[in-house]
Amino acid sequence: MIDLTLIGIGTGNPDHVTFQGAQAIRAADLILIPRKGENKADLAGLREEIIAQVSDTPPLIAYFDIPKRRADDGYLRGVDEWHDAIALRWQEAISTHPDARKVALLIWGDPSLYDSSLRIAARLDPLPATKVVPGVTALQALTAAHAIPINDLGAPYFVTTGRRIREEGWPETASTVAVMLDGECSFQNLEMAEYDIWWGAYVGMKEEILIKGPLTEVAQQILDTRASARADHGWIMDIYLLKKRAI
Ligand SMILES: C[S@@+](CC[C@H](N)C(=O)[O-])C[C@H]1O[C@@H](n2cnc3c(N)ncnc32)[C@H](O)[C@@H]1O
Repeated sequence: MIDLTLIGIGTGNPDHVTFQGAQAIRAADLILIPRKGENKADLAGLREEIIAQVSDTPPLIAYFDIPKRRADDGYLRGVDEWHDAIALRWQEAISTHPDARKVALLIWGDPSLYDSSLRIAARLDPLPATKVVPGVTALQALTAAHAIPINDLGAPYFVTTGRRIREEGWPETASTVAVMLDGECSFQNLEMAEYDIWWGAYVGMKEEILIKGPLTEVAQQILDTRASARADHGWIMDIYLLKKRAI
């Protein structure tokens, strides 16, 4: 039976890799690396860099191509089929190294947050014994970069996507909302005068950009900065925290 370890590697900064993560990389017989991700950050060779940094005798690496996701048959159905297809690619990559028993993947951020590697692992046949090494999430990297707590005293916080903010608006009972996976600056759909924002792009990386302030005052600056950074780098990953302003 295969031991599969999903190693959270943080958000693009090799220094985010924990001692536990480094140890798991060294212990692996085989590491699976996606050759082509949906976004170009995955192309940056960060995973090879991390492996070389933490191991003198690197484990075997097997590359796999990420299949294209169909968008013509509903979002959830498209994702479901896509996960099946990725599981097959993992399986093929593993089968090229029949002696490898300890297999690992380096997962952006942490495998528990807006990441499907655990759902893909559950599709492998035979089912591997799956372990997770936690990593720094984009949300943690953002709050650290701005040196702020996520939650107000004794209060909960809400994590959601740009699409949901656009379609459903501000979550009714929330005072703090973190927004991920937002290619459209969906904060523009809200009543902007009611919120403060802490925004970050490439958080934790050398390209990091941070902007914060009352949303009405900084919204245009974020839109402009985001557009030009995206054009300069060819890709962008951003995340933000919104808090209701005290009236
Ligand atoms: C597919 S999710 C993966 C999240 C990841 N598993 C985590 O733990 O943070 C990708 C989203 O995470 C956020 N993200 C990841 N890395 C980031 C970074 N370095 N800077 C800003 N946002 C980032 C962005 O909102 C991006 O759209």
